[in-house]
Amino acid sequence: MQTVDRPLALVETLRSRRQRLAQLFPQPAVLWSGGSSGRNFPANTYPFRASSHFLYFAGLPLEDAAIRLEAGKLQLFMDEATPASALWHGETPSRSEIAAAIGADDAYPLSELKNWAEGTATIAVQDAQTRLRQSHLLNRMLMPANAPQDLDAELANAIVALRSIHDELALAEIRRAISVSVAAHKAGMAATRTAKTEAHIRAAIEAVMIAHEMPPAYTSIVTIRGEVLHNAHSPHSLHSGDLLLADAGAETPTGWAADLTRTYPVSGRFLASQRAIYDVVLAAHDACIAAIQPEVEYREIHLIAARTIAAGLVDLGILRGNPTDLVEQDAHALFFPHGVGHLLGLDVHDMEDLGDRAGYAEGRGRSDRFGLCYLRLDRPLKAGMVVTIEPGFYQVPAILQDPQRRDRYRDMVNWERLAEFSDVRGIRIEDDVLVTDTGCEVLSADLPTHADEIEQLTQMQVRRTSRDTSD
Ligand code: GLY
Ligand code: MN
Repeated sequence: MQTVDRPLALVETLRSRRQRLAQLFPQPAVLWSGGSSGRNFPANTYPFRASSHFLYFAGLPLEDAAIRLEAGKLQLFMDEATPASALWHGETPSRSEIAAAIGADDAYPLSELKNWAEGTATIAVQDAQTRLRQSHLLNRMLMPANAPQDLDAELANAIVALRSIHDELALAEIRRAISVSVAAHKAGMAATRTAKTEAHIRAAIEAVMIAHEMPPAYTSIVTIRGEVLHNAHSPHSLHSGDLLLADAGAETPTGWAADLTRTYPVSGRFLASQRAIYDVVLAAHDACIAAIQPEVEYREIHLIAARTIAAGLVDLGILRGNPTDLVEQDAHALFFPHGVGHLLGLDVHDMEDLGDRAGYAEGRGRSDRFGLCYLRLDRPLKAGMVVTIEPGFYQVPAILQDPQRRDRYRDMVNWERLAEFSDVRGIRIEDDVLVTDTGCEVLSADLPTHADEIEQLTQMQVRRTSRDTSD
């Protein structure tokens, strides 16, 4: 972090967030930002990412810092940069400058924190070294993730309530991340005609993010092997007839994420088999979005996706039966094995460091059904939530070749007909959707989903700048 030149809106928003926290959780809480860890020597670090809970209340990605929140007040604990740090990393703002930028009431060196730690609640950070310091200072062993106890669990519940419903600043940041991500996806599509490999397209996508000083919010998935759901590798050459699945989203400098997926033909034209399945997935996407409004159960949105996909596959002759019955038998999950989406915010799967505490309403837990067990969100929707809608179709060999599943679904699947769609390995269409008072807003609507528009975008060449053309 080089500057602390932040608008007043940040200070006001941070103040309002901690006042609302105090209403839900009156006890003191300490949140750590975490630190970076060395790859092979201390100064060669993995990229630092501050804890999202810290970012929500502190607003800046400070390294090795902590904040104490009580009764709407914020105390900042961090050390001044050393002269050696100035030599290697340049001048950085002082503690008091940072304190002013985030509207802190007091600021102290980190060593003072021990005098303020007694009786405080916390959330375990991901970074193990800091978590050990947290445990030591608070005199209780903090587990890496998702199992806060007692007072920590109450703090976690309060933070979930706040972070689930986005304030104006959060929404402005998410919109910024989405806007850059839309441009990044369009650049990826435009690069497809000339790209030789998946990695070329991934580079075109991430170049736009980097040019906006935004890193990817998660490891980009840019692959012709879309059936590998979280495929982090992009080694393959591209050939006409391949479908490319690109799941990539930018993260703003203060940590807010986008999460977008499009699937497009490398040749610029879907094959008939691909277009047919694409349209089934798009119908599911559109039906989910049409149903989003406050108080609707997200699980119901997932089931709308499942039933629409099942109906589309019945129409194509791939599944046999009544779509509702097929979904009750989990037959849709042979091809759509994941949940239809998740919360989005400071993390791409927002607050999943707390396990299902954010995603699942109190008293609810994961189903053990094949078609529901990967559902990450099972709550009634509320205005101010941002969720992803990301139905898909995949031919995963581990599912489709599994002898027990082949046997169970023997009569529900027309396996000969399915073989005619062997060139469709993985399709996903993902948008980021804000729940509003009256329905919803697709925040990523500037990135087309219709197959004809996707084809047009992949047929466009990257526009050459005037500097390029003057060479
Ligand atoms: N963007 C990856 C996912 O939602 O899991
Ligand atoms: Mn997603």
